[in-house]
Amino acid sequence: MPDKASIKLKIKNLTEQLNQHNYLYHVLDEIMIPDHEYDRLFHDLKALEDAYPELILANSPTQKIGGIPLKIFGSITHQKPMLSLDNAFSSEDIEKFYTKIIERLAAADLDQNQSDNHQKPASLQMHEFFVEPKLDGLAVSIFYEHGVLKHAATRGDGQTGEDITENIKTISVIPLVLKGDFPEIVEVRGEVFMKKDTFNALNKQYIKKGEKPFANPRNAAAGSLRMLDSKETARRNLSFFCYAVGVFSDLKNPITTHGKWLSAFASWGLPICPLNKKIEAADAQTTIAALIDYYELIGTQREQLPFDIDGVVYKINDLKTQDILGFISRTPRFAIAHKFPAMEEITRVLDVEFQVGKTGAITPVARLEPVNVAGVMVSNATLHNLDEIKRLGIKINDQVIIRRAGDVIPQVMRVLVDKRGDNLREIIFPNNCPICHSPIERLDDEATARCTGGFNCKAQQIGMIKHYSSRKSVEIDGLGDKLITVLVENNLIKAPDDLYTLVRQELLELPRMGVKSVDKLLEAIEKSKTPQWDRFLYALGIREVGDAMARTLALHYFDIESLKLASTEELQALPDLGPKIASNIMAFFKDERQLKMIEALFAAGVAPIKPLLNSQNSEDLTSQSNLLNGQTWVITGALSTLTRDQAAEKLRNLGAKISNSISKNTSTLLAGEKAGSKLDKAQKLGINIIDEDQFLKMLEI
Ligand code: IVH
Repeated sequence: MPDKASIKLKIKNLTEQLNQHNYLYHVLDEIMIPDHEYDRLFHDLKALEDAYPELILANSPTQKIGGIPLKIFGSITHQKPMLSLDNAFSSEDIEKFYTKIIERLAAADLDQNQSDNHQKPASLQMHEFFVEPKLDGLAVSIFYEHGVLKHAATRGDGQTGEDITENIKTISVIPLVLKGDFPEIVEVRGEVFMKKDTFNALNKQYIKKGEKPFANPRNAAAGSLRMLDSKETARRNLSFFCYAVGVFSDLKNPITTHGKWLSAFASWGLPICPLNKKIEAADAQTTIAALIDYYELIGTQREQLPFDIDGVVYKINDLKTQDILGFISRTPRFAIAHKFPAMEEITRVLDVEFQVGKTGAITPVARLEPVNVAGVMVSNATLHNLDEIKRLGIKINDQVIIRRAGDVIPQVMRVLVDKRGDNLREIIFPNNCPICHSPIERLDDEATARCTGGFNCKAQQIGMIKHYSSRKSVEIDGLGDKLITVLVENNLIKAPDDLYTLVRQELLELPRMGVKSVDKLLEAIEKSKTPQWDRFLYALGIREVGDAMARTLALHYFDIESLKLASTEELQALPDLGPKIASNIMAFFKDERQLKMIEALFAAGVAPIKPLLNSQNSEDLTSQSNLLNGQTWVITGALSTLTRDQAAEKLRNLGAKISNSISKNTSTLLAGEKAGSKLDKAQKLGINIIDEDQFLKMLEI
């Protein structure tokens, strides 16, 4: 048995550590340890405090919610405290949570039956839960008076938050005025977050400028919400879903369940997460099974979702039952967060290597001691460029926090300087290309260093061919990275056009290439001769021209000649096309080697399918283009800016077929508000799902 003095010391240490992390996280938006390390420390402290309640310190983080409001903004005192949720990490934790609920409700029934025999026992209502994804953003409170957005605040310390009204008003999905039949006063609570694609684009800009990127979308959302200039917040394209009510005045028809509150919010024009669901079951065992099923289902979708979530939340649906259960200090007893495995882990940098991309860009890559991050073994992480190495202050043998997010290459978030040993080695950025040994140059206005070997560098040859044949480009099935390397190493190909002059016999002589695979490969190469025009433009690998930008170009220029003749001014008139990309396009079409390569492609029989050669007008083109040719779409739920028929017409104009039911052949489900069984089925089948916002963005392309 440990003595009481040592327990006291442990509690003091844990309290101080957690308070320090809270301060860094909530006030300075700095992360010193991964979330799950924090949760572990919190859990340890809580366990000690439960065993020795007399030793709980007044400043214990278990007694309050953390976060101290920043002084720069005015403060707003919440009329009802903004609380937090208890965390569960396993099915056993969920069973315990539910057993406690059942016991409490049984005790409450007993009390009630003694005083009033006619009331329905509370426990009869307990097997109904409302389940929601746990959004990884920032909790905010938005106050509407007579349906008009009056003020908004961060959670702060739970009692008082920062006044962020002006910034909240810039978020496009948050209505300034409610519609429908709302009460005189209503405080809506929910999460402000940044979608992954917005975050990636924002960080890319920061990294390119050699500036410090945000650690994760949550931090980026926090930073964007606390901008002193709300015009800047508006540019950050934040999102929001509501998940709870705060204070409210009398309603015409009283609301009896949490789910009904969310439906009311939706009817007033507020956004609700489409993955929310009601769960009803006959008994405790089936309820728990249904909760865990939801956890697992959302877990499988986690990486494909357009926003970060770190778990799911289970809430007793019936409000009376919620009241009976009440709260313990900082958390409700009627709800719990079931957390997913962390997307961040600690590991060690074994070495740093320098990769050469298709345009010669040199990317330092950290080779890591392999570590399992939420079910995926990670052994590499990108370090982006020299500025990022300097910013992180990273050295070989350092312990680092790495983070994996969807299909983005794992990132090094920070170095654990405290854990450094005496075996550190400096990372030395090379002066020459590790592959072709040509000098590496770094232009003044770029953070990226590049190999100057161009078409002669084998790494650039491999990079170009990989890009040309990839799925989003002309797509050559069966031509994997390994085979491309073998072909380049054997001097069979140097550039994409060489693919079309490959000889069957040469391929058959390569190791592990049988008749079947060679014929299949040649067939796939032949098929790639007729790519869509936008994919062909993307396949050329023009610096910073991604697939979306290639679509824009494809809609405005119908052949290489007209694109070659375009002036910078003309190019910059296109949506999202700035001076840098314009100058990259100009440079590409001035490069004799690139022009020769395009000529050789055409000579080999590559003939991109143009959207509409006879159209002179790009608007005609958008309405009749075949960007979605061969795709089958399903539309479900209510759309707010157009009818389903209008959406279907727009999709048909882009070449898509519309179907009424989800099957494995469905390409994409467009899911509006209150989407039901079709959404469930699409989720189960892992079909691409987009919401109305994403759909509208797609139409802008
Ligand atoms: S309900 C009384 N629902 O998680 C608790 N919270 O640890 C009210 N969060 O501060 C919160 N998604 O920032 C609730 N669907 C969801 C949530 C959610 C994310 C956050 C929220 C809250 C924290 C609790």
